[in-house]
Amino acid sequence: MAITASAPAKTILFGEHFVVYGEPAIAMAIDKRAYVQVTLRNDKRVYVLSKDLGLSGYFENGLFFAEKGNRSTHVKLKPIMVAAEKVLDQYHEEPVGIDIEIDSSIPVAAGLGSSAATVAATTLAVSKLLNMELSRENIFRIAYDAEKLIHGTPSGIDPTIATYGGVVLYQKTKGLSPLKVEADIPLIVGNTRIERSTGSLITEVRRVHDSYSSVVGPIIKSGGEIARTATKALQSGDLTTLGELMNINQALLYAIGVSNEALESLVFAARKGGALGAKLTGAGGGGCMIALAEPENLNSVEKAIERAGGRAFVARRTMDGARIER
Ligand code: PMV
Repeated sequence: MAITASAPAKTILFGEHFVVYGEPAIAMAIDKRAYVQVTLRNDKRVYVLSKDLGLSGYFENGLFFAEKGNRSTHVKLKPIMVAAEKVLDQYHEEPVGIDIEIDSSIPVAAGLGSSAATVAATTLAVSKLLNMELSRENIFRIAYDAEKLIHGTPSGIDPTIATYGGVVLYQKTKGLSPLKVEADIPLIVGNTRIERSTGSLITEVRRVHDSYSSVVGPIIKSGGEIARTATKALQSGDLTTLGELMNINQALLYAIGVSNEALESLVFAARKGGALGAKLTGAGGGGCMIALAEPENLNSVEKAIERAGGRAFVARRTMDGARIER
């Protein structure tokens, strides 16, 4: 028997980087998903194949054996193995082996939470295969713990969105809370295809902050105000205000040094193409940008981003977190 589960990608609408300094951030699940199919094996191995990354390997008795791929095979596949093992730890029958096949439409290392989506989908699929009823909270916990292995101390935004879907507000001191958003939030995601490291961008922002704290401090506070104002605009479905706030947010991210030429050129192309607003999403330095547009302008903005050299797709908010496909 094969079970397939899926989980969504995330975009940060407002507040990346400022969130590290205690301000709120807003993230939203989008309709790009990671799909994970699992089947039982005849042996006790946990075998993982990532079709989109072209990587495979298996874990046996706590050891990893790479099959296809490169030096990153272990790092990329380990969280998936850990998630599967954590589910197996809660399975009180005879030990079993599992084949895990990943087929994801989420761009990798682009700030869209592809790893958390894969891990959450794996957790749900394996538990269903073994006829276990894991609560959402349990799925989130397992996905979060597996994510910690590669990201150190992540905020938890990625596994929350992957598990629960929807829109969330996050603040370090208050944790995560769901936001009730009724309106459609039509986005275009543009990928610069430049890979970057979230960790080194956070370090660079820290340096700028520490060197010019009286200048950068107010920028961070202002970033927090944008997220607070945007919360109300999201709840009332005010797309014009959201677009303007995205543009202001982008200017602040530029000021702290996390935008670059590739991102700026996609952002400007999107605005010229008819977007209500555009900004980078996630850590910056490459990765993706997002643009907000009225439904009738989605195609022209998508084309404008493609012409400027980005890989673009239309994305819509999804309320569906991790779910069983069949
Ligand atoms: O690009 P991502 O998805 O890794 O997002 C990073 C967002 C930061 O605010 C820079 C860091 C964080 O943990 O919130």
